[in-house]
Amino acid sequence: MGRIAQETINRVLDEVDILEVISQYVDLKKRGKNYFGLSPFRSETKPSFSVAADKNMWYDFGSGQGGNAIQFLIEHERIGFAEAVRLLAKKYGIEIIEIGDKEQDNLYDQLYEIHELACIYFENNVKSAKASNGKQYLKERQFSDATIKQYRLGISLDSWDSLFKEVKGKFDEDILKKSGLFSESKKGLVDRFRNRLMFPFFNLSGKIIGFSGRTLSPDDDVKYLNSPETFLFQKSKIFYGAYQTLPNIRKQNFAILVEGQTDYLRLVENGFSNAIATSGTAFSTKHAAVLKKHTNRAILAYDSDDAGVNAAIRASYALLQQGIETRVLFFGNDYDPDDFFQKEKNSKKEFKQLIKTSLHPIAFIVKQKEILKQSATQRSLFVDECLGEIKMVSDSIIRDDLIRKLSNEISIPETEILNRFKSIKTKIYRPVDVEKSKIQETHYTSLSDKAQLELIKLGLHYPTFVKEIAIELFSNALLQNVMKTLIKNIDKNYTISQLLETTGSTPEERNLIASFAIHSPEKGVRIRF
Ligand code: CTP
Ligand code: MN
Repeated sequence: MGRIAQETINRVLDEVDILEVISQYVDLKKRGKNYFGLSPFRSETKPSFSVAADKNMWYDFGSGQGGNAIQFLIEHERIGFAEAVRLLAKKYGIEIIEIGDKEQDNLYDQLYEIHELACIYFENNVKSAKASNGKQYLKERQFSDATIKQYRLGISLDSWDSLFKEVKGKFDEDILKKSGLFSESKKGLVDRFRNRLMFPFFNLSGKIIGFSGRTLSPDDDVKYLNSPETFLFQKSKIFYGAYQTLPNIRKQNFAILVEGQTDYLRLVENGFSNAIATSGTAFSTKHAAVLKKHTNRAILAYDSDDAGVNAAIRASYALLQQGIETRVLFFGNDYDPDDFFQKEKNSKKEFKQLIKTSLHPIAFIVKQKEILKQSATQRSLFVDECLGEIKMVSDSIIRDDLIRKLSNEISIPETEILNRFKSIKTKIYRPVDVEKSKIQETHYTSLSDKAQLELIKLGLHYPTFVKEIAIELFSNALLQNVMKTLIKNIDKNYTISQLLETTGSTPEERNLIASFAIHSPEKGVRIRF
């Protein structure tokens, strides 16, 4: 696949109806010239997400992010630029014109291609006589044929170079190295995955971006081996099974989070099609931020051992801090979800019951850690620790609720907890992506910056005015860049939304331009330097 031509991008942005696109996800109401709704990117009670239908632009006042329809899809669906353009083009029946091979596109295309080839190769091994131990293992684990097919499970052979031989000659050595599918040894490149049950990871458009391999040998110390970080595979944000179940998670507005692939597949096989798994890496703030774009309710169904309980506690704080309503489910018996469904008789019904009786994270911690049985000193430490985490919850309603919950669970008056809360310092500030631009905006405090902002606003709304502006007046580098973009494109008759796709627009510039598309310049504004 080549690069999408600028003319196609412009056409898409010309023909797209942003109201129609965004209305699929956000309930919008007209207020004045623009439309408003609850932000699909954050949890909020007052609508601060706005759409300027006449300009084909959106802007989120809460996060300071904004853009055109393409950026909305990128943010909301977590897809790449080209995929977003393709989606819109398809929706509006626009033919896509592609141009030449840019090196970068080539790199990505080849990486996708080598992963696809590897996946097909591993899949074929499931049928081949060479992988008898793998086939035996698949049988023992009782994965259905439908699961094997849909999730494209495969087997890597007990050999140093079987995959290498498959792809050698078809790709440059550089691509082989960058794919993460091979390790470097004295003898050159060798297969990274050997003698393993292979679970491919899909991106949101269904392309393979990496693998996790479970060993088939009981003597192997490394039970699961994953692809390393590559251009395609970024562990801190990736979920296993997202491609298949995120649509259901959105529909049900509810996710069941598990620790690994087998647990995930077992849940899906039992009809819980809103499962999703992290895999090998701990649940991170970034995972929570990604999930928040799709749902605001989650249940953690982690392993019922000590490691699982601790992981569930950490994950629930990360989820709460992103404004996701969280519950924790506990199987007991040291079960993981896979064990539970394989060993319990009435597992489906029981699992539904476990969902119903799952605990609020604070209640879960108090119960699991037996806080009430501990000494006053230890309880006090617990309260501080808990409040330190609560401090990082940005949504004040969720924060108050957590404080109330904490006070109830450990029977300490709310006022006392509140006093302590006020004296606790924020531990660390963990910004998430969506908040970047919020920080950015606060930079424009000086009179000179504000004046430059006003000039840009005028320039956006009255393009002819741009010709009169002297670029030397712009002392703020970012604002100067925005102005340069305006000047450079003055004769092209671009709409604001198209302007965003011209070269050189960074996210900061884009958010700024989007915010100005929503605000019209104030009448009678006078500029004096
Ligand atoms: N994991 C990993 N590396 C390990 C162990 C685990 O990446 N050395 C990841 C895998 O994604 C695994 C998940 O953490 O699925 C949970 O680990 P664990 O509970 O040990 O494995 P199970 O999912 O129970 O796998 P199995 O049932 O095959 O033993
Ligand atoms: Mn297991």
